[in-house]
Amino acid sequence: MGKIQLKFNSRTIHGGQAPDEAYGAVMPPIYQTSTYAQSTPGGHKGYEYSRSANPTRTALENSLASIENGNYGLAFGSGLAAIDAVIKLLSPGDEVISTSDLYGGSYRIFKKIFEKFGIVFHFVGMQDTGEIAKHISSKTKLIWVETPTNPMMNIIDIMSVSQLARKHRILLAVDNTFATPYLQLPLDLGADIVMHSATKYLGGHSDVVLGALVVRDKELADQLYFIQNASGAVCGPMDSFLVLRGIKTLHVRMQRHCENGRAVAEYLVNHPKIEKVFWPGFPEHPNHEVAKSQMKDFGGMISFVPKGGNYQDAIKIVEKLQLFTLAESLGGVESLAGHPASMTHASIPKEEREKSGVVDALIRLSVGIEDKEDLIEDLRQAIE
Ligand SMILES: Cc1ncc(COP(=O)(O)O)c(C=O)c1O
Repeated sequence: MGKIQLKFNSRTIHGGQAPDEAYGAVMPPIYQTSTYAQSTPGGHKGYEYSRSANPTRTALENSLASIENGNYGLAFGSGLAAIDAVIKLLSPGDEVISTSDLYGGSYRIFKKIFEKFGIVFHFVGMQDTGEIAKHISSKTKLIWVETPTNPMMNIIDIMSVSQLARKHRILLAVDNTFATPYLQLPLDLGADIVMHSATKYLGGHSDVVLGALVVRDKELADQLYFIQNASGAVCGPMDSFLVLRGIKTLHVRMQRHCENGRAVAEYLVNHPKIEKVFWPGFPEHPNHEVAKSQMKDFGGMISFVPKGGNYQDAIKIVEKLQLFTLAESLGGVESLAGHPASMTHASIPKEEREKSGVVDALIRLSVGIEDKEDLIEDLRQAIE
């Protein structure tokens, strides 16, 4: 009898998993060990040293590969450690085209760490694929896409960018942190590498920092495994366990994040004291049609600007919120509010930041899975 081809919801729970061989434990044990006994040099059961591989991490890496429709998964100590590994595929003189509106920490590692090593970054608005084409040269080796972008929720057409990348033999990496594989599968749309801050929706409970990469190609996977082991930015077994546990409820959490996100976005857009709301589900949101075709739903991330918006108005609102916690990060079961200009995106110079819309009055919400009526009541009392 052939193996059942599992659909997405089943893969979040079972993808790449099997009961543990020692005692049949249904969840993989947290193999809290740095090393493994050998009967003779090289005589081991597949594990020698936990930087190179650890069984709990392997269980997570197999799950990651499964949910992203990839063949190989790699887990790292943070999302930024995963990005670091991707850029280490490159050599001095190589060029990267990155979206101009992206997580501030991604911008920082590109500009402040890798530019020093001779890698050249072009930050380009990617809502129109034609803009990317203008920056391609024989030195371009990587296109870095984040969609929806953090925090402006811009939508980039992954399939159209992947066609361009393929034509020029350029690698395409997609940061899928905001969408998650529940909403969007970049490898199916032609990307070579999917990256995650698993700290966010994959973990889902704001209790772990972890990063991930998933690829299909064996040669690319081997290069990345080499970097993972050689640079050593791996995650520990406990953190691997927590993310694996988080992934098992990803589909039900995401469904509720999307439902609550829609309710909050619709409340805000009709509020007389709100100037602008950025949420890809609105028909007038730029590239809404692309979002509709490449995503299953529109997610729980929303940004907005209060009317006449200045810095002080935004600060007053985030200080008054009671159920939304003012905090960095996103993607947990609890709702969070952030002020990108002074928090997540403070590492981007003001003029660069404002070019992509990250003004001082912008507030970003990660809508959690509480009762939506309570979330709306909290926003009502904070905005009035
Ligand atoms: C879209 C995106 N990419 C990457 C990262 C970096 O991940 P980590 O904080 O796990 O290093 C973040 C973190 O906020 C993010 O939001």
